[in-house]
Amino acid sequence: MLVLGIAGSPRRNGNSEILLDEALSAAAAMGVEVEKVVLSELQYLPCISCGACDKTGICSLEDEMQALYEKIGAAQALIFASPIYFYTVSAWAKGAIDRAQALWSRKYVLKDPRYTAAKAGYFIAVGATSGSKLFDGASLTMKYYFDAAGYAQAGSLLVRGMDEKGAVLALAEKMDAARELGQRAAISCRLTAGE
Ligand SMILES: Cc1cc2nc3c(=O)[nH]c(=O)nc-3n(C[C@H](O)[C@H](O)[C@H](O)COP(=O)(O)O)c2cc1C
Repeated sequence: MLVLGIAGSPRRNGNSEILLDEALSAAAAMGVEVEKVVLSELQYLPCISCGACDKTGICSLEDEMQALYEKIGAAQALIFASPIYFYTVSAWAKGAIDRAQALWSRKYVLKDPRYTAAKAGYFIAVGATSGSKLFDGASLTMKYYFDAAGYAQAGSLLVRGMDEKGAVLALAEKMDAARELGQRAAISCRLTAGE
């Protein structure tokens, strides 16, 4: 039983990673395994649209995304965290999202059961400003990313008005919400694992 966390910010221990860590530790406290992957510590290219994955589900780029594909397939719940950059996810996150085209093929072409299960996916995002459309772009992107990766979006935690590194620590209700999200991910994980 694995809850996988993907951290999309290059600012280590920044606001989105703090919320992700809180969620993962709450999930771990419920007895599931948790693992965090920090995208900015991986070496991977963006999708080159070579078409290789179209029929095989196998990406031609032999880099550290290959291991992440397997973790995404093995996990029973996924929590993906990103800062808002220019009204969408970070480039690190978008690079990983575009590479999920191979997972889309595994799901829709190969019908690989690791990616067709519609497991629970959760999105955490943090932005500095407070406009009503702040999360619109990222939320739509994440909806289709989760679908391609074998998840259905089951919840999100979207936090406005946070710019300084670590500022979210002062927002007790957001930290509580992150723990609650992690607990829900753990429950989804257990249910998907058949417990
Ligand atoms: C390249 C870049 C682009 C950003 N674009 C936006 C933006 O479009 N809207 C916004 O509200 N905040 C924007 N921000 C601010 C971050 O979303 C904010 O500082 C957030 O708290 C960072 O999260 P992190 O600590 O997890 O990296 C941007 C920051 C950077 C570095």
